[in-house]
Amino acid sequence: MLKLQNIRKTFNIGTPNEKVALDGLNLTLKPGDFVTIIGGNGAGKSTMLNAISGAWAVDSGEIIIDGVDVTNLPEYKRAEYLGRVFQDPMMGTATDMEIEENLAIAYRRGKKRGLSWGITSKERELYKELLKTLDLGLETRMRSKVGLLSGGQRQALTLLMATLQKPKLLLLDEHTAALDPKTAAKVLELSEKIITENGLTALMVTHNMKDAIAHGNRLIMMGNGKVILDIEGEDKKKLTVEDLLQKFSVASGSEFASDRALLS
Ligand SMILES: Nc1ncnc2c1ncn2[C@@H]1O[C@H](COP(=O)(O)OP(=O)(O)O)[C@@H](O)[C@H]1O
Ligand SMILES: [Mg+2]
Repeated sequence: MLKLQNIRKTFNIGTPNEKVALDGLNLTLKPGDFVTIIGGNGAGKSTMLNAISGAWAVDSGEIIIDGVDVTNLPEYKRAEYLGRVFQDPMMGTATDMEIEENLAIAYRRGKKRGLSWGITSKERELYKELLKTLDLGLETRMRSKVGLLSGGQRQALTLLMATLQKPKLLLLDEHTAALDPKTAAKVLELSEKIITENGLTALMVTHNMKDAIAHGNRLIMMGNGKVILDIEGEDKKKLTVEDLLQKFSVASGSEFASDRALLS
């Protein structure tokens, strides 16, 4: 479903701030792979997701989504293959628009019919049912402006919007990190439910090792712009936080011990 081949990305080329963020990155995902991603600050996790979504051109390498070489496609063209949820709850939804209008925009993604046609009653029923599955009471507030929602409610809505038209790949970049622990747990549970029920292929970056172990069928650790650990299936099920800490220090030196966020 995804093939990243020998990806290299350098920021600020030719300046004193030059930084190789992805350094010969390789990763292949099978359809239905749900991969959790951990790694120290600056390891290249967000850069990998940005490379996939096409935020900028990579220096070299190939990006293939479901057999289509998207390496030279602009971001808006790749967007039809992808669902994305970022850390910032403000980013995924349109503040000044109603909940149902936001859903309608997501529903029309990749379709010719625009919002000017209005939202049909059949659509409204669909949105109501989907919102019910979030269990946040949003199905009774469909005409409310999204700006009135809490961070957790907005992330849940963003998740729904990102998966309304089943994406080939769902990219989650620390999407619960800005939420309080209880809300974060709820949004995470919801993510798990949406991914497994729809058989989505997903990449989920988290700074929490326990969450990385508890979710998905595969776990990768990144370090210095590369995949430094890749564990799946039964081996992943047996993983412990201690294992990960140990593997991290073997693979990359002492960086992990000082990175307290990863242990929380
Ligand atoms: N847009 C950018 N401009 C310059 N440097 C960047 C940019 N994005 C990321 N970097 C640098 O690339 C490295 C990897 O960053 P990132 O992928 O955000 O790490 P993380 O694993 O914490 O998500 C870091 O050194 C970061 O400072
Ligand atoms: Mg990041």
